[in-house]
Amino acid sequence: MYWHTATLTIILNNSGYEGSGKREAGSGKREAGSGRFDSFEERRMRYKLMGRSGLRVSELALGTMTFGEDWGWGADRGESRKMFEAFAGAGGTLIDTANRYTEGTSERFIGEFIKKERERFVLGTKYTLFNRRDDPNAAGNHRKNMMQSLEASLKRLDTEYIDLYWVHAWDFMTPVDEVMRGLDDMVAQGKINYIGISDTPAWVISRANTLAELRGWTRFVGLQLRYSLIDRTVERELLPMARFMDLAVTPWSVLGAGVLTGKYNDGSGKGRAKAGAGQDARNLKIAAEVVSIAKEIGCTPSQISISWARQQPGTIIPLLGARNLEQLKDNLGTLDVTLPDEHLARLDKISAKNLGFPSNFLSADGIRDLVYGGTYDLIDNHRDSRE
Ligand SMILES: NC(=O)c1ccc[n+]([C@@H]2O[C@H](COP(=O)([O-])OP(=O)(O)OC[C@H]3O[C@@H](n4cnc5c(N)ncnc54)[C@H](OP(=O)(O)O)[C@@H]3O)[C@@H](O)[C@H]2O)c1
Repeated sequence: MYWHTATLTIILNNSGYEGSGKREAGSGKREAGSGRFDSFEERRMRYKLMGRSGLRVSELALGTMTFGEDWGWGADRGESRKMFEAFAGAGGTLIDTANRYTEGTSERFIGEFIKKERERFVLGTKYTLFNRRDDPNAAGNHRKNMMQSLEASLKRLDTEYIDLYWVHAWDFMTPVDEVMRGLDDMVAQGKINYIGISDTPAWVISRANTLAELRGWTRFVGLQLRYSLIDRTVERELLPMARFMDLAVTPWSVLGAGVLTGKYNDGSGKGRAKAGAGQDARNLKIAAEVVSIAKEIGCTPSQISISWARQQPGTIIPLLGARNLEQLKDNLGTLDVTLPDEHLARLDKISAKNLGFPSNFLSADGIRDLVYGGTYDLIDNHRDSRE
């Protein structure tokens, strides 16, 4: 049995709409002529709390690395706007961009698209990656780059504040306290509301948030990392840490840059992963299993891959990556799919990674016996963030 809630029926009429099915319908159309964003009539999303904060964010986030054609594989302004409107129309509010995406075009497009109703959207952008080449202080995590990069992003986004400001990647140079104090100052100045961290080792994040907690500074509430059926290495340290510290996780590359749509399995796929991950035998084997489960369930392979990520423990809010409206609509279909245990187990089996030390060591029967003196199975432990 599968749960494909395509039976969700939404009847639109001039005065509003009625919904039936698993998902509650949204708040209806806006008043005519209000000049506000008015395409929320097909709201299908629920909302989650952004980690250890009161901020409400949509259960899916819009990745916008494909907004703009500057890198050769993105969407033009018209197609980007259509994707944005489809996402917002489904109730999506969490937007992800970065200073460097498509050389600033992504931020410029987003700024323009959200202008009509800035407050509704939870706008996230990032700093770290270079703003200019060959200038040691125009990249990295340090305070000077943080401030310069933030000011430039605010201008491109045409807004006075960022809701969620991300450290994009750890530079292994800047002291942790400089980053946390700098970000806290930006919060105090009203330029950012919340902070998150991406592509950084667990031990750095753990130290950063503990330091911030002790000093009364703003703490990270979000964690961005690469996670998909073809790369589950973050299950070793980063995901257990996120659950332990109540960080909301926004995984990127949940489709393995397109590999998990199955389009490279028969050799016909055209896309940016064709020359790379789309040729790896292990990746293709996992994609083949995704495709066969999709056929059994009656949905698309992308919906299977995204739903798998959404059904992992913790607060997981996948970043939808799409190059055109058709792909985005396909990916939004994850909202109607819940994978049964049997299919989750098959996907787990084909994609599992060896967790290595210390996880395997500490889970071994002999070590458990030593650590708990034979009482492990007698204790109901609500605090084990490994699962
Ligand atoms: N923090 C970080 O370091 C970091 C890094 C990367 C990305 N991100 C964020 O995460 C977002 C998503 O990342 P990603 O692009 O790597 O994600 P992804 O979902 O793994 O890959 C997206 C790509 O897969 C293909 N695709 C997507 N949906 C498809 C569909 N339904 N059918 C067929 N092909 C489809 C498209 O490429 P083709 O059409 O070319 O095949 C698309 O560009 C980005 O936009 C960005 O916001 C963050």
